[in-house]
Amino acid sequence: MAGRVDGPLKVTGQAKYGADHGFPGLLHGFVVTSSIAHGEIEAMDVTQAKGAPGVIGVYTPFEPLELRAPVTPFFGETWVPLQDKEVVYRGQPIGFVVAETYEQARDAAMLVEVSYRSRPALTSLQDGLASAEDAPAARNGEPPTLEILAPGVESIEDALAASPVVVEATYSTATQHHAALEPHSAVAVWGPDGLTVHSGNQGSDVQAAELAGALDVEPSVVHAVNPYVGGAFGGKARTSAPAFLAAAAARVLDRPVKAVLSREQVFTATAGRAATVQKITLGAEHDGTLNALRHDSWASTAMDRSFVEPTSHGTSREWYSTRNLALSQKMVPLNIPPTTFMRAPGEAPGSFALESAIDELAIALGMDPIELRQRNNSTAPPGKDLQWSSKHLDECFRVGAARFGWADRSPQGRTDGDWLVGLGTATAMFPALRFPATIGITLRPDDTAVVATSGADPGTGLLTVLCLVGAESLDISPDRIVPRLGDSTLPPGGLSGGSTATASAGSAIMIAAAKVIDDLLALASAPGAPFDGMEVSYAHGRLLAGDRTMSFGELLRTMNRPSISVTGSSAPGEELTKHSFSSFGAQFCEVRVHKWTRETRVSRMLGVFDAGRIINPTAARSQLIGGMIWGVSAALHEGLEIEADGRFANGDFASYLIPVNADIPEVDVHFVEYPDTLHNPVGAKGLGEIGIVGMAAAVANAVHNATGIRVRHIPILVEDLL
Ligand code: MOS
Repeated sequence: MAGRVDGPLKVTGQAKYGADHGFPGLLHGFVVTSSIAHGEIEAMDVTQAKGAPGVIGVYTPFEPLELRAPVTPFFGETWVPLQDKEVVYRGQPIGFVVAETYEQARDAAMLVEVSYRSRPALTSLQDGLASAEDAPAARNGEPPTLEILAPGVESIEDALAASPVVVEATYSTATQHHAALEPHSAVAVWGPDGLTVHSGNQGSDVQAAELAGALDVEPSVVHAVNPYVGGAFGGKARTSAPAFLAAAAARVLDRPVKAVLSREQVFTATAGRAATVQKITLGAEHDGTLNALRHDSWASTAMDRSFVEPTSHGTSREWYSTRNLALSQKMVPLNIPPTTFMRAPGEAPGSFALESAIDELAIALGMDPIELRQRNNSTAPPGKDLQWSSKHLDECFRVGAARFGWADRSPQGRTDGDWLVGLGTATAMFPALRFPATIGITLRPDDTAVVATSGADPGTGLLTVLCLVGAESLDISPDRIVPRLGDSTLPPGGLSGGSTATASAGSAIMIAAAKVIDDLLALASAPGAPFDGMEVSYAHGRLLAGDRTMSFGELLRTMNRPSISVTGSSAPGEELTKHSFSSFGAQFCEVRVHKWTRETRVSRMLGVFDAGRIINPTAARSQLIGGMIWGVSAALHEGLEIEADGRFANGDFASYLIPVNADIPEVDVHFVEYPDTLHNPVGAKGLGEIGIVGMAAAVANAVHNATGIRVRHIPILVEDLL
């Protein structure tokens, strides 16, 4: 079996993504977006657009497509376009033009005349700070504010005042966007059995539920298909505007409709990552013991307040042991596109602030930053009794330091010709979670087994995990497993998000496999069956009793059974009352800052991770490399520039900088592998998101080591180092 079952299909262009689907009579829709950031639409003149060549329909808030905001357990309410005349950000979908060809739809969309009653727009986080509001509960329902004080301590201020060494600094992170390579898109087809939608997303059953809610039809009427997803990572969790619009237009027009966002529209008509401002105050003893930690956060959010970047989430749960901890989280509603989950939501920007501050504290104490981190290693989340099920962070740092040559680091960096060279490190952590998941297993007469779940593989390798864990659980070789994924008619697999898919699906596979083997044994020994009344056992895909043996396929053929099918479900349970769960890692990086041009190049990177059992070493390594590169991207490249009128100055691939190959050195990833079966029977803890966590701080810390300049915002630019 290939390292990735879907790899050959993807690299040879045979994998069909949502918008690659075509149908006879296919119509094309183009989304019209707002050109102001705040106000009310007074009128939309669609006369010219309707008369343009090939145009079939023009939909606006004045002549809307019928859609309701769906409510699902995963996301609560999801916004749908065209249902009111309010504009709350620039680039908001406000119309949909459907024509015979894509070009006709796009041309006609340009002919739609919109008049607005504009209102003042608030688009800058800095300007909005004064109007910050208390944030509602953060991700996972945990409170955004938290105060833990040691006995006898009156306030966090007192704990800080009593600390001999105090470091306080304010950090900020830029507005970012997933900028998925595959633009958000959908092809919607209504047939006698209902609606089929081909659209990249992070969970086909979740998308089907959202579409059914939006269209006000039974969930069984909607069939969501997404075997391949070209980039998601939070940005394709909720159903996108083109999917809602294509589905609704296909219904009224009774023809298949395809809608694809333009590259620029992807930046505004979908959601991205909030900008944050974070103030960290650390109080320590001279020996480095953290006495008090305060983390106050402000995050931008759209006017719908639908998502708050939980920046201090990691500080509250995973990072350091401290007797006094205070967190606050404010949101700053702005006239900007919605914010949402983006790779390591909370932890990615949060770790930039916290792990930079820890570096600053190490310098203030004259202590090695790794030693400071190890001194404050937590055995449980702050204020909780539940110990980590497994934590090998110390080993990550030990192994990493040796592998990276940390012992040779000078606190003043070093020079190499015209280059200032520095080393930086940071801790990475991400909670080990899992979601409910159901897996179907079907044993077939040709000795293959279908392992299926609705879910999605947004490039993370879940399809291959189905193969590998399926093969192991059924005790057959992976090439006899037929994995199926990305189809809402399959057993509900939930969402590929939160670094949960391997643990969630893997646990369900093990349960389903045990059930199907039980059923197989019962079938084999039933009256009249080949092993009638015998004590049968199962190994290597074969049934055995006495000196009789037969593969499961042979049994099915002999008994004239087309197949044998079961489903198995798993969900988080009792383990949550016994332990706390997290993946851990140590990030290392070397940067070279040019003495004269001040450009920063990352020259070496290493991540050492404790992520439980590694199911597919190649894919796992790729996931972590991707995350670490994303961290470099956050540190040195990424950031949306929002103009006062709400326009993104760089909302396209020409100017929204992301690293290219020349920006990234050889990336070294190493695992300390301790399967965590206290978390789930598979022993995998999750590694999708942890790669990005801490990386931006490691870069900033290395830049400081190289130059002596502490940059407290990302991205770090040439002008910050002059
Ligand atoms: Mo996750 S934010 O769905 O990468």
